[in-house]
Amino acid sequence: MKTIKIKIPATTANFGSGFDVLGAALKLYNEIEINVRSPKSEVRGLKIEIVGEGKDTLPGNEKNVVVRSMNAVFSICKKFPQVYHLRLTNRIPLARGLGSSAAARLGGIVAANELCGKKLSDDEIIQIVSKLEGHPDNVVPSFFGGLCICNFNGKNVNYAKLKMPSDLKAVLCIPNFELFTDKARNILPKTIPYKDAVFNSSRVALFISAIVQKKYELLSIAMEDKLHQPYRKKLIPGMDDVFNSAKKSGAYGVCISGSGPTILAVSGQRSAVKIGNAMQKAFFGHRIISKYIICDFDNEGIEISE
Ligand code: HSE
Repeated sequence: MKTIKIKIPATTANFGSGFDVLGAALKLYNEIEINVRSPKSEVRGLKIEIVGEGKDTLPGNEKNVVVRSMNAVFSICKKFPQVYHLRLTNRIPLARGLGSSAAARLGGIVAANELCGKKLSDDEIIQIVSKLEGHPDNVVPSFFGGLCICNFNGKNVNYAKLKMPSDLKAVLCIPNFELFTDKARNILPKTIPYKDAVFNSSRVALFISAIVQKKYELLSIAMEDKLHQPYRKKLIPGMDDVFNSAKKSGAYGVCISGSGPTILAVSGQRSAVKIGNAMQKAFFGHRIISKYIICDFDNEGIEISE
């Protein structure tokens, strides 16, 4: 019998201005444990155990996205190891803008690649999962960790990784409702004014400089956005108030995490709890129950152990 364990980080995409371009990994992880029986074993059938997020709603059969992703790799590699037990420990909240779907697909692909003797290179994994998932700004940081800059033309992804500073915290205020990415994309307009494109590209460049040079006072401007948040705010009651409450409590910058509904405030250690409480209160003012977590950024990415 062989056991493989994979630890996959959550991600926060966009940072406001970097729509579909920027993403960073978080120290919040899903885990996949896989047991493979020896060819001589008498045991038959696959047992899937789901613990944590989605334990009552996610399919515990071949339809599970982790299993589907694994089967895709087995087909590519033409190798079909006899997986008989899969334990999924899900800590990343589902449909909240924290990359749970990218983590599930990536975890399945990486796990299957291990079982097939690492036939796929890191880059091949990134290309396959990005095409399946459609959002390299979640996939690339979940794999490599850090702050990733991605460029995707629907076929190929180009990417670069930078380290996230260890003195920055992600305060994530997570409302108790789901928001699916398709819905949050369908609400976006087909075209945008030229000046809005310039508004965002100037800010995303500023964001990178602010992180590299640790000029955190620039983040409030650098995380401003005109491409998606003004449209998505219809789907997140109280968004403006939550943004303002975070800023007033000392956040360097604030934005929607991915396609939402989670709100991300980037802060230092000292103000993180105050910011979390203020954001939760602001949501509550709009009758939205939420919880907040304070996370470090992850610079390591996916981890595999046996
Ligand atoms: N950049 C994508 C979006 C992330 O905002 O729609 C989806 O997880």
